[in-house]
Amino acid sequence: METILVTGGAGFIGSNFIRFVLSNFKEYQVINLDFLTYAGNLSNLKDVETDKKYKFIFGDISDKKIFERLPKNIDYIINFAAESHVDRSIQEAGIFLKTNVLGTLNLLEHARSISIKKFIQVSTDEVYGSLDETGKFSETTNLSPNNPYSASKASADLFVNSYHKTHEVPANITRCSNNYGPYQFPEKLIPLTIMRALNDQEIPVYGDGTNIRDWIHVEDHARGIMTVLQKGKIGEIYNIGGGNEIQNINLVKSILSQLNKPFDLISFVEDRKGHDKRYAIDFRKIHEKLSWSPKIDFKKGLENTVQWYKNNIDWIRNIQDGSYLKIREQFFKG
Ligand SMILES: NC(=O)c1ccc[n+]([C@@H]2O[C@H](COP(=O)([O-])OP(=O)(O)OC[C@H]3O[C@@H](n4cnc5c(N)ncnc54)[C@H](O)[C@@H]3O)[C@@H](O)[C@H]2O)c1
Repeated sequence: METILVTGGAGFIGSNFIRFVLSNFKEYQVINLDFLTYAGNLSNLKDVETDKKYKFIFGDISDKKIFERLPKNIDYIINFAAESHVDRSIQEAGIFLKTNVLGTLNLLEHARSISIKKFIQVSTDEVYGSLDETGKFSETTNLSPNNPYSASKASADLFVNSYHKTHEVPANITRCSNNYGPYQFPEKLIPLTIMRALNDQEIPVYGDGTNIRDWIHVEDHARGIMTVLQKGKIGEIYNIGGGNEIQNINLVKSILSQLNKPFDLISFVEDRKGHDKRYAIDFRKIHEKLSWSPKIDFKKGLENTVQWYKNNIDWIRNIQDGSYLKIREQFFKG
């Protein structure tokens, strides 16, 4: 049995990734190291918490002391832990530097001190900046981040690359486009739209709503990361994308249609500062070299996602009324 240390596994993508690994691979056990920030929610993993191949450890990757408490026999480290919301990084960037850059550096130091098979840095297409109407981001596109979140992720990527080159840490970087699916914190566009629409509240859309994102189902992303873990060539970067470009306004409208809610809930608000116009991922490399491609049809995936949030209203309510934070308080006290 091999051991995967997942950081940030109580968040949106990390929790879906852990569920994906435990239900599809017998040969791995997972340790989830998470600091349970506002975005970390252990109820995302309720169905796996008694699995013998799963263990949770509470801790902050930007605090080196946490690594003394980790077992030494770790085969893989997959770093999901991050501050991940662009709007928050515009308000207060310091924590993005601390978690996303210093935290990654600490993890790389830890990887050096134990012998691991692979370190995967879960990065984002946002490190490439913004596109006009044409073209796509490839792995050789220059890094050109436009907001403090993407700047912190790009910095972390550079540290990962440098630790691979200088200290021979066996590493891959994955850069994925926008994810959607269950358990996404309802500050992000899709769950926010669903939640507000269900409550007949106004739905804020930045600018004129024509910004384009390239959406991928979180399970396709999880499968992409496992493909890189098992087959990725050490030192390489792999873009992961869904091939589903859609304007924000059209995405919001299709969610409203599915919920039978009127479009006049939409309220255009002042554009986000430094708002990237368009993201689109060229994922030919992972497709051609590692035989990965996205499987989940966007229309179907979105319908299932909307349905999931409708079926899990309690999950949303616990976040809205803050009761999900009680679990965190126990760890802080204990
Ligand atoms: N959401 C997307 O569309 C997307 C796309 C591409 C890449 N990514 C990357 O994927 C990763 C996960 O994104 P997400 O959307 O699941 O984020 P999220 O905000 O939902 O979850 C982040 C998790 O990290 C944990 N965390 C934060 N600071 C920590 C610290 N100091 N120590 C330990 N744990 C800490 C949080 O408690 C939370 O569980 C991030 O690195 C993000 O940059 C996200």
